[in-house]
Amino acid sequence: MKKYYIKTYGCQMNVYDSHRVATMLNDMGFEETSVLKQADLVIFNTCHIREKATEKLFSDLGRTYLVKQERALEGKRTFIGVLGCVVQAEDEQIAKRTGYVDFALGPLTYHRLPDILRKVLTEVDEPIIDTEFPVESKFDFLPENTSQGGCSFLAIQEGCNNFCTYCVVPYTRGVETSRPVEDVIKEAKILVDGGTLEINLLGQNVNSYHGEDANGKERNLAYLLNRLNEIEGLKRIRYTTSYPADVNDELIDCHKNIEKLMPYLHLPIQSGSDAILKAMNRRHNSSQYLDIIARLREANPNLGFSSDFIVGFPGETDADFQATLDVVDKVKYIQAFSFKYSRRPGTPAAIMPNQVEEKVKKERLTILQDKLFDYQTKFNQATVGKIVPVLFETKGRHSGQLVGRTPYMQNIHAEVSKDYLNKIVDIKVESATMNSLSGTVVKV
Ligand code: SAH
Ligand code: SF4
Ligand code: F3S
Repeated sequence: MKKYYIKTYGCQMNVYDSHRVATMLNDMGFEETSVLKQADLVIFNTCHIREKATEKLFSDLGRTYLVKQERALEGKRTFIGVLGCVVQAEDEQIAKRTGYVDFALGPLTYHRLPDILRKVLTEVDEPIIDTEFPVESKFDFLPENTSQGGCSFLAIQEGCNNFCTYCVVPYTRGVETSRPVEDVIKEAKILVDGGTLEINLLGQNVNSYHGEDANGKERNLAYLLNRLNEIEGLKRIRYTTSYPADVNDELIDCHKNIEKLMPYLHLPIQSGSDAILKAMNRRHNSSQYLDIIARLREANPNLGFSSDFIVGFPGETDADFQATLDVVDKVKYIQAFSFKYSRRPGTPAAIMPNQVEEKVKKERLTILQDKLFDYQTKFNQATVGKIVPVLFETKGRHSGQLVGRTPYMQNIHAEVSKDYLNKIVDIKVESATMNSLSGTVVKV
């Protein structure tokens, strides 16, 4: 049996895609290994969002080439494939830059993998590159998605039409498309039948979902959430990532009415400065954003928010940066992701004047993260002493320990029987740090 090794970079969409690629390979008779040296087929599912992510890929590829040479001395062949957003952005350059990649597929063509693999394994020596934006949807050609355990991702929307001036996603994932309602419901039911208790709906701009129902009528995310709510056995629903300007009243109502919808929402603002938001081509300013947060809180006072931030966008002044800090103080995020602006080739911001010095970006990131981490730690510490329902997802570092998540996406570990894996269990929180909680099972 041939073995494959797969490494995933980037966002949750890539994690979902890799899971489906793995299912496809299993169906073809391959077996997964976590040891690079044992792999006859090595696959990297890549991310192009910031320069660092791309650099990491090329250093991993270099390491893999050495392993390929070592294996060749033992008479074993190793095939190397690259999937995902770097492929879409670099196209044929990826094979030229490395010289040893056997095939490369963009994020919208990986359903063609079985055909391409057969060719690579048997017929051709030239690298095969496929970066078409196909007319067919990959979802129609993939084997059924399988449960990823207690928590599963489910992609409902892909691509983005927003064209934020710093971002590569509209170029790598193409225009926004939504999967039909019934396809999503069918996949959700398969996941739940396979043991999934929590579904996280995915899309680059998930709340602009507009899939067709069985009668060809366009439906929005709120409709879909209500339909998912009816699935018996499904306990938790999340969706990510939302674009603030696309949050509508119906979606806000869902946070009031749908009990299965978890009280945690990732709603990226990127910057608190209106001038920077405009230069970023975001369709919201800071007061509109804060208004949406206020309306969501009115619908559900227990909601906790997270966000993405970019510091050092071209032209960002100290006052602009201060505006970002002010938003953080107003919203008091319970979690957040923050990045230094990274110049991406081909995006409008890359050629904007007044690029911010690396030193200033670094300083601002430290100041912002100190503040964000402070709120996150305080939120986690406020959980100590409470009893929270935890969905245990994996085994912990120590034996006898399981790791799971609270409704607020906090990581929590506890010494509990492994029978609790993929179950929701009441846990009393004993201690908390910035990154995780620990607790004990509540005796009944
Ligand atoms: N579709 C989502 C997330 C896209 S990428 C959204 O719109 O929110 C995830 C995050 O990466 C973005 O929210 C942004 O904060 C960050 N990001 C994107 N391009 C970047 C760049 N060029 N430099 C630094 N961070 C970037
Ligand atoms: Fe990128 Fe903006 Fe689209 Fe998010 S909304 S994927 S940041 S272009
Ligand atoms: Fe990266 Fe592509 Fe996701 S660029 S963040 S893997 S959509």
